[in-house]
Amino acid sequence: MQSDDHLAASRYARMRWNTPLSPEHAALLLQRLDVRPGSRVLDLGCGWGELLLRAVAAGGVSGPVATRGVGVDTDDAVLARGRRLAADRSLNRHVAFVTGEAAAWQEPADRVLCIGSAHAFGDTAAALDALAAVVRPGGRLLFGDAYWERPPTAEIAEVFGPDVATLPGLVEAARERGWRLLHLSTADQREWDDFESSWLAGRQEWLLAYPEDPRAADVRAELDDRLREYVGGYRGVLGLAYLVLGR
Ligand SMILES: C[S@@+](CC[C@H](N)C(=O)[O-])C[C@H]1O[C@@H](n2cnc3c(N)ncnc32)[C@H](O)[C@@H]1O
Repeated sequence: MQSDDHLAASRYARMRWNTPLSPEHAALLLQRLDVRPGSRVLDLGCGWGELLLRAVAAGGVSGPVATRGVGVDTDDAVLARGRRLAADRSLNRHVAFVTGEAAAWQEPADRVLCIGSAHAFGDTAAALDALAAVVRPGGRLLFGDAYWERPPTAEIAEVFGPDVATLPGLVEAARERGWRLLHLSTADQREWDDFESSWLAGRQEWLLAYPEDPRAADVRAELDDRLREYVGGYRGVLGLAYLVLGR
């Protein structure tokens, strides 16, 4: 394998999923999502679909009616990882990974996941509106979205854009759009630190292995900027909320 391939492969290599979330917290969310045997699970902006695969497994695939899942994302590389994970767990007949725009998906499902992907619909409000059309009546949505835990500096506010609300603002936005809140929890500091560290770690390890690569300086600068921005800017300021919503 060329160092090229190593760099591409290292990007998300140390991440379990692409959101601040511990395995225990994920288990709680899946319990609250209440995936039933035989249900259809849809993940819009799924990444490599780790949580989708766990949701389908939680619903069960060996009974008389198997749970099925579909993950949609625009990034072919992460979808390929999802297909490999599904095959490793013998879930490939039950979970499909589709290249596409989240906002263009029209087939409704019983359980829908949309975590860290509201921007794929434009903004949080547009996502909450659009997702109402793909959750079947009586279904549930697991919605993960950023909010300001503390007021950001002007510089950090500009990095994340004008769409980020406070937690009360986010909850209110869901209520105003007809969603009923079944569960709310937020990522804690250790989940955030682990998320940021694991985001960095894949390429930090690549840098240590290939310090002379011609791209090393750019990669080093990108990672250094992100780390500075995190510890000096949005650590403890940006939050991530997980809402289980029904309608
Ligand atoms: C922060 S990641 C979250 C991934 C996944 N939900 C998770 O929790 O691991 C956001 C994902 O949205 C995907 N994405 C961005 N724009 C999109 C779009 N227009 N349609 C579908 N997916 C999109 C990205 O490729 C990325 O995988």
